[in-house]
Amino acid sequence: MAVPFVLHVGTPEEAQERYAEVFRDVEALVDDQVFLSQAGTPKQGRLSQLVPSISNFFTKLPLRDAFLIQDDRRSISGRRLVSPSFNDIRLILNTAQALAFANTETTLKLVTFDGDVTLYEDGDSLTDDTAEIILRLIELLSRDIIVGVVTAAGYNDKTGNKYYERLRALIDTISGTTKLTTQQKENFTVMGGESNYLFRYNNETQKLKWVEPNEWLLESMSHWKVEEIEQVLDLAEETLNQLKSHLKLPAEVIRKHRAVGLVPVSGQKLCREQLEEVVLFTKRKLEAFSPTETIKFCAFDGGSDVWVDIASKDLGVSSLQRYFGGIQPYETLHIGDQFVSVGSNDHKTRLSGCTAWIANPDETVMLLQDLMRYLEKNSVA
Ligand code: IMP
Ligand code: MG
Repeated sequence: MAVPFVLHVGTPEEAQERYAEVFRDVEALVDDQVFLSQAGTPKQGRLSQLVPSISNFFTKLPLRDAFLIQDDRRSISGRRLVSPSFNDIRLILNTAQALAFANTETTLKLVTFDGDVTLYEDGDSLTDDTAEIILRLIELLSRDIIVGVVTAAGYNDKTGNKYYERLRALIDTISGTTKLTTQQKENFTVMGGESNYLFRYNNETQKLKWVEPNEWLLESMSHWKVEEIEQVLDLAEETLNQLKSHLKLPAEVIRKHRAVGLVPVSGQKLCREQLEEVVLFTKRKLEAFSPTETIKFCAFDGGSDVWVDIASKDLGVSSLQRYFGGIQPYETLHIGDQFVSVGSNDHKTRLSGCTAWIANPDETVMLLQDLMRYLEKNSVA
């Protein structure tokens, strides 16, 4: 888009048409990529040759239409001094993904959400009963769509009270509403600790109910040995402690059942560079440790802290797909805020389904409003 921005200054209509052409061309490249992936030869795609690191596209992306929608909102083609930005592109991609689900060829069956920054502000909880986001989640459930919160926050407590505390307003609204059938209510789930603890809403107790791992654990994870998991956590703990003293960080190391965290002490902050150094160093150390050939882990910068978790969100999303009877990646949407590749814990969900990258809870609401509108149009058509 830089080329038309720099070279083709004309009337606003001309500028819009130039940009729209670029998006139509990229849309065609994605179509080609989807077609070749289905044929089992994704590497032959032109997009894959131009960008070898590109990951899978599970649906087509109506980028031209998405551009026109976002252009209307963000004056992209009308701007003369500020070129199309990273955020413009991110939002166009989200809109295209939402539009794709309105296509009759694809049915949206599972929507998963990250917790912090996506549903509520970082470190916060969903406590406001009137929050827009709650209304949107109820709307998804009322369309027989399964809703899962897939969060890194791990609490090894079978009562589910910790998750209830963080999602109280949502769970109480699900309990009280007459808009949902029992089945629809019980389509609400929480996958905690990346992919370690599954809870499901239970209509009798009106609370979250622990689901035994043998009902949802992926085949690959079921072979992980507890001793090896502990060895990985031991090394993570030792490494974080070493880094804490080497970098003189005002932080403490916290060991949990399936995670180790480095968290600043009260009143202190760690800068982005310190957090990233800790993530990269720890990741490298763990990758060279033989048990991690089997045991998957994820080391990430949570904005103010660093965590090493056993498992990762792609496995969390896949577990939900399996638990609900084999939902496909093209029927799944994960919404999250952490998609920058280095040390981001939503990034891996791109392996398990379609994704949308939001920057704050307001954007999540906006995306869901769009999604609902497009699905509505589709069902009317
Ligand atoms: P998410 O955005 O919902 O995936 O949550 C990530 C945030 O949860 C991290 O930035 C941490 O601050 C917090 N957190 C609390 N407990 C854990 C844990 O056991 N593992 C990872 N993150 C945790
Ligand atoms: Mg988050």
